[in-house]
Amino acid sequence: KDRPRVLSGIQPTSGSFHLGNYLGAVRQWVDLQRENDAFYMVVDLHAITVSQDPEALRQNTRISAAQLLGAGLDPEHCTLFVQSHVPEHAQLAWVMNCLTGFGEASRMTQFKDKSTRHGAESTTVGLFTYPVLMVADVLLYQADAVPVGEDQRQHLELTRDLADRFNTRYSPTFTVPEPYILKETAKIQDLQDPTAKMSKSAASPKGLINLLDEPKVSAKKFKSAVTDTDTVVSYDEENKAGVSNLLRIHSALSGQSIEQLVEHFEGKMYGALKTELAELFTEWVTPFQVRTKTYLDDPAELDRVLGLGAEKAREVASQTLATVYDRIGF
Ligand code: ADP
Ligand code: NA
Repeated sequence: KDRPRVLSGIQPTSGSFHLGNYLGAVRQWVDLQRENDAFYMVVDLHAITVSQDPEALRQNTRISAAQLLGAGLDPEHCTLFVQSHVPEHAQLAWVMNCLTGFGEASRMTQFKDKSTRHGAESTTVGLFTYPVLMVADVLLYQADAVPVGEDQRQHLELTRDLADRFNTRYSPTFTVPEPYILKETAKIQDLQDPTAKMSKSAASPKGLINLLDEPKVSAKKFKSAVTDTDTVVSYDEENKAGVSNLLRIHSALSGQSIEQLVEHFEGKMYGALKTELAELFTEWVTPFQVRTKTYLDDPAELDRVLGLGAEKAREVASQTLATVYDRIGF
C-alpha cells in the first residue's frame, strides 16, 4: 500500500440516490479519490436483505454506478465495482459471522429500525447479519478510512471490534479502519420531518430529495420544507431543526460558512433561504443528471468500467481472503 486505502459502498435499492447519500457520503468519495487508493462499490448483496424485484435490482445497480460517475468518480483515480462481482465479500462475511456475538449483532440500531419498519414476518436473517457483511466489505480491502454518514458509525465500531478480535485471536491480519464522517453533512434531515434523517423510506415523499427527479419537483420540495413559526434565519439545531438543516445543505452546496449565510439572510425571511437553496440545488443537479445519463446511454462503457473495477477489487480481496483462510486453518 503506497497510499491510504479508502473504501465505501452504497445500496442500489431505489435507483435514485437522495441528497443525504450525496452530501453525507458520495461527495466525500469524490474528494478522497485522488489522494487515496480508493475502492467504491454498489452493494447489491445488501439490497437483497429486503424483498426486491430482479429486473429492478439489475437496472438500479447500473443506475447507481452511473450516478457515482455522474457525481464525479473517475475510474482513472478510483476502483468502482459491484459487490456481487467479487465473491470474496460473501466468503469473508461468513468468517466474520462466526466471530460475532449474537447479542453484539442484536444491538445494531439500524437493524432494529429496519426490522421494525419491515415487520417481523418479512425480516430476514440476512437483514440481521448485514452489519457483519459490511464488516467484511471494509476489512477485505484493508481500508484505513471509511467515508460514511453518521448512521453508519455503529457499524464502523463493530468493524473495528471484529478486526481487533481477529487480529488478537489469530495474528495481525486486518487494518483497523477509522470512520471518515464530516460533521456538517453527516446527517441531512428530512425536509418534512427535520427531526428524522432523510431516507428513502421517508414517511412523506415531499421530505425526500431524489437526485434523479425533475429539478422542478425538488425545487418545490425545498420551497415547502417544514421550518418553524419564527422568521429569523439562524442556526439552532435544537429549536430550529428545519432551518438549520436547510442552512447546512446550503452551506454544503454553496461553500459558504453557516456564519456567512446567517449574515447574508439577515432581515430576510425563510422564503429567501428556500428559494436560494432551490436554485443552488438545481444548478448542481442539472449537470449531474446530464453526466449520469451519458453513462446510462453507453452500456458498453459502463460494463467496461465495472468489469475493470471488479478485476482490480478481486486482486486485493482475494489476497486478504487467502490470508484469512490460512490463519483460521482452512
Ligand atoms: P440509505 O441510508 O438511504 O438506505 P445507504 O444505506 O446505501 O442508503 O447509504 C449510503 C450512504 O449514505 C451511507 O454512507 C450513509 O451513511 C449515507 N447516508 C444515508 N442517509 C443519509 C443522510 N440522511 N445524511 C447523511 N448521510 C446519509
Ligand atoms: Na485514488
